[in-house]
Amino acid sequence: MPRPKVYVTRIIPEPGLSMIKECCDVEIHNSKEWPPSREELIEKVRDKDGLLCLLTDKIDAEVMDAAPNLKVISTYSVGFDHIDIKEATKRGIYVTHTPGVLTDAVAEFTVGLIFAITRRILEADKIIRSGEWNKPWNPFFLVGPELKGKTVGIVGFGRIGVAVAKRLSSFGVKMLYYDISRRWDIESILDVEYADLERILKESDIVTLHVPLTKGTYHLIGEKELKMMKETAYLINTARGPVVDTEALVKALKEKWIAGAALDVFEQEPLPADHPLTKLDNVILTPHIASATIEARRRMAELAAKNLIAVLKGEMPPALVNKEVLKVRPLEQVKMI
Ligand code: DGY
Repeated sequence: MPRPKVYVTRIIPEPGLSMIKECCDVEIHNSKEWPPSREELIEKVRDKDGLLCLLTDKIDAEVMDAAPNLKVISTYSVGFDHIDIKEATKRGIYVTHTPGVLTDAVAEFTVGLIFAITRRILEADKIIRSGEWNKPWNPFFLVGPELKGKTVGIVGFGRIGVAVAKRLSSFGVKMLYYDISRRWDIESILDVEYADLERILKESDIVTLHVPLTKGTYHLIGEKELKMMKETAYLINTARGPVVDTEALVKALKEKWIAGAALDVFEQEPLPADHPLTKLDNVILTPHIASATIEARRRMAELAAKNLIAVLKGEMPPALVNKEVLKVRPLEQVKMI
């Protein structure tokens, strides 16, 4: 049997690439920073059996139509909103992702953002660098709310939401969570209370978002929801930009409907330097780096490679997104290795 042909849309950390090269003929878009253009992507997948892509590559029906041999799309991300899952399933293409391996990294970063925004850490750093720390110590300078005793609302209680709750449980906060399904298993081990979104928005001092981007979560937080939040509350988003209506958020921050926000993801990425959000003092902005630990990024590469190889071996991949595909094209029919 010929070796499977695989296209990798970016240089990814080792050992991911070497693992794939061992059993497949790999063509790689040779850049750590830039994705292939749409034209290049479509051209390169034409004769490929496998595709390893990033969240910056839009994989839709047009891409899949260009690749009649495609058996597996392995994304180097836990989120898969950049892939048309329905179209993939229809064509018998396996879609895999990288859950679990970045949970700790994202949860740690989320907690970091909570402290950074409430305790005004970036603002404080800026004040020193700009020479504005020119008065003696005083009791009112750069004060912010203490976390202990506050209510944190966790919207989306999957792996990452739960990992955030586990970390926050040592800070003496009250925790409310919302998810489409109730997590009795977690409620029995963590002091968390199930609440609907409205109650979370109305009662929380910090609202942190951990839902995937779907049709149902697009603009989940808009003007109406922001208006429900307390004037003293903070919004944290490390999920996906489009979960929040940016225009409404800018208005909320400008008009002080809420106290502040810490955002790692945006509707438009990269966020332009002159975006209205960058003009506001009550917001912290980071460039989609919540999973950016050396360990998580290496594990993501490893899992993305394992997923891809497993499908081409006709084996169950560790993290399959579209389970229905098993009925459309059973694994033995995609086996090449
Ligand atoms: C993901 O994996 O979906 C993150 O957004 C980037 O690690």
